[in-house]
Amino acid sequence: MIKFKDGFFWGSSTSAEQSEGRLENDGKMLTVWDKFFSDSPYKFHDNIGPETTSTIYKHFKEDIKLLKQTGHTAYRTSISWARLIDDKGNINQKAVTFYNSYFSLLKENGIKVFVNLYHFDTPLYIQEKYNGFVQKETVKLYAKYAKTCFELFGDLVDSWFTFNEPIVSVECGYLLQYHYPLEVDSKKAVQVAYNIALASALAVKEFKKLNLKSKIGIILNITPSYPRSNNEFDVKAAHIADLFATNSFLDPCVKGEYSKDLVEILKKHDLLPSYTEEELKIIKENTVSFLGINYYQPLRVCAKANLPNDNAPFMPTYYYDSYVMPGRRINKYRGWEIYPHALYDIAKNIQNNYGNIEWFVAENGMGVEDESRFKKDGIIQDDYRIDFIKQHLVELHKAIEEGSNCKGYMHWTFIDCWSWLNAYKNRYGFIELDYNTQKRYIKKSGYWFKELSDNNGF
Ligand code: BG6
Repeated sequence: MIKFKDGFFWGSSTSAEQSEGRLENDGKMLTVWDKFFSDSPYKFHDNIGPETTSTIYKHFKEDIKLLKQTGHTAYRTSISWARLIDDKGNINQKAVTFYNSYFSLLKENGIKVFVNLYHFDTPLYIQEKYNGFVQKETVKLYAKYAKTCFELFGDLVDSWFTFNEPIVSVECGYLLQYHYPLEVDSKKAVQVAYNIALASALAVKEFKKLNLKSKIGIILNITPSYPRSNNEFDVKAAHIADLFATNSFLDPCVKGEYSKDLVEILKKHDLLPSYTEEELKIIKENTVSFLGINYYQPLRVCAKANLPNDNAPFMPTYYYDSYVMPGRRINKYRGWEIYPHALYDIAKNIQNNYGNIEWFVAENGMGVEDESRFKKDGIIQDDYRIDFIKQHLVELHKAIEEGSNCKGYMHWTFIDCWSWLNAYKNRYGFIELDYNTQKRYIKKSGYWFKELSDNNGF
């Protein structure tokens, strides 16, 4: 039997934009996702935009009952900046009432409340006025917003997080054209990455001033890079891939400084951001005390076959190619490689190279297309999801036995949610959502999760 330590928490994660919904007169301002959906050439799956969610804004009372029914002892969501603060800087009292009631009810039900401040959802008024995190003005506004959240909800939240997967905002928004503003500009990408690390440190600084009982961290997606062979070129390629995918945020947020190798590469391409010594000091002095790690899939890397031509914009992939490793298990419903052992490697990396800082799995899960085809007797029989979670837990457990400071596991996600580019194509939840009727149905994995949590293992 795989048994976790007492106090190990079992939860699910979601985000404001993907779960809250927008109701008439709720005071929520537009976000970059509304703009992306209405104006961009990108075609969302089934043309479903960010307004179609499980509408937790309205349903949180019944949803908290479902959290209990499925054994959750912790729950992570985010606050919507665009809901809380309007374009004139005023606080939306309806948002305050909503978050107060939502977080209080979680607490009353004995569920740990984990709150993230930013999950890809820049208010549109900030994106348009300051080009989002390209400008330092947004950093200042973010720090102010963070302070407001700590002051308003500080007593209700157990753990705070400054950002979710900041490298995704950088890559998708400024290199790969998957997120608004759909730009390809390496200089801006590096500036946004630096400004987000600075904003995170400023939020930590504000947090420390308030002496709250809770902790503060950041949520990073880690995609460990594995070289195709032991030859020096492949190994170097994997190291460079890690510098961008992992070290870019892990180092400044946990160690308070950037990796020298990363700085060297950026210098070589004339891509150092605009920074001041005073800002670097803020980053140095305001590291996080807790980490959330999202893990879905690894990166398989080999040395670049051909270097890009001189005019191509700089991308991390300038130095490496990624490839699909033959014979590897793939989530055939989503196309991502399934490699649970990477979770062990992540745990060891944190233990050995990042001071064994306290952390938890903040997202891990399996997206499945057309999931209703697995429905029997009114319940989705998602044994594939149960297997997926078990295999990851085995690796995690092994690392914890060897001293990793991991405190809990959160699944992505609780109720099937709207997703940035795929809308409802890939379902991840423990709970099936019919978004037309807003009805919820617990899947087999939801019932299993209750047993897992009750037994603290399987
Ligand atoms: C994570 C994000 O990257 O992956 C979530 O934090 C996201 O917001 C999840 O929904 C799953 O990815 P996708 O693209 O299948 O929704």
